[in-house]
Amino acid sequence: MPVAFDVRRFESIDSTNTWVLEQARSGAPEGLVAVADHQTAGRGRLGRVWEAPAGANLLMTVLLRPAVVSYRSLACVALAARDACADVTGGAVTPDLKWPNDLLVDGAKLAGVLAETDGAGAVAVGIGLNVAWAPPGAALLGADVRRDDVVDALLSSLGRWLEVSDASVASAYRAACATIGRQVRVSLVDGEEFDGVAADVDDAGRLLVEVNACLRTVDVGDVVHLR
Ligand code: BTN
Repeated sequence: MPVAFDVRRFESIDSTNTWVLEQARSGAPEGLVAVADHQTAGRGRLGRVWEAPAGANLLMTVLLRPAVVSYRSLACVALAARDACADVTGGAVTPDLKWPNDLLVDGAKLAGVLAETDGAGAVAVGIGLNVAWAPPGAALLGADVRRDDVVDALLSSLGRWLEVSDASVASAYRAACATIGRQVRVSLVDGEEFDGVAADVDDAGRLLVEVNACLRTVDVGDVVHLR
């Protein structure tokens, strides 16, 4: 059965991810979507803050209840966001994906995706996408783009990706992922840093990095594309 999306809109909220996780714990069904004009406590990966001026950017979270919790949910939302950007700009902007969760335009960050679980099978996948405002050094989709059009295009593409096999999602993610094949600097959560060549993303969504002819598997971390 295709997912039916139920979009709730907020002028101001602490975090759309927090709200969706609360609804998930109360039994909300897959397809619940929160879209906010402004967040007072927006979260990024690894405990970071995610900020944007009111009314400027896309701030949304989708509740998914996958058969198996995996990186598939994040990959589907990232691929759908990429499709939506191409759709609303008439093909002018088709972002690359950067492992694990960014969308890039000409190497600059356009969007970030944050997937969080409620520990009981639900996944809240949030996306912050710079439509009309970007922090210094980041990319913009375009001040003339309507955020509602991005929401509609994203959900319509997401509905399709959610119907696609795991193998096809994984192969589309790899094909769109600009990290693969790049010289990268990896920073792990324990503070270790190393350089290598990103060889692949495995079926569990981990980055495989070739370092001195050995493959290192990265579960969680930050990556900088060096060249
Ligand atoms: C990242 O790149 O660190 C991920 C950023 C994810 C931000 C979005 S904005 C909508 C949703 N609600 C949140 O609190 N975070 C995500």
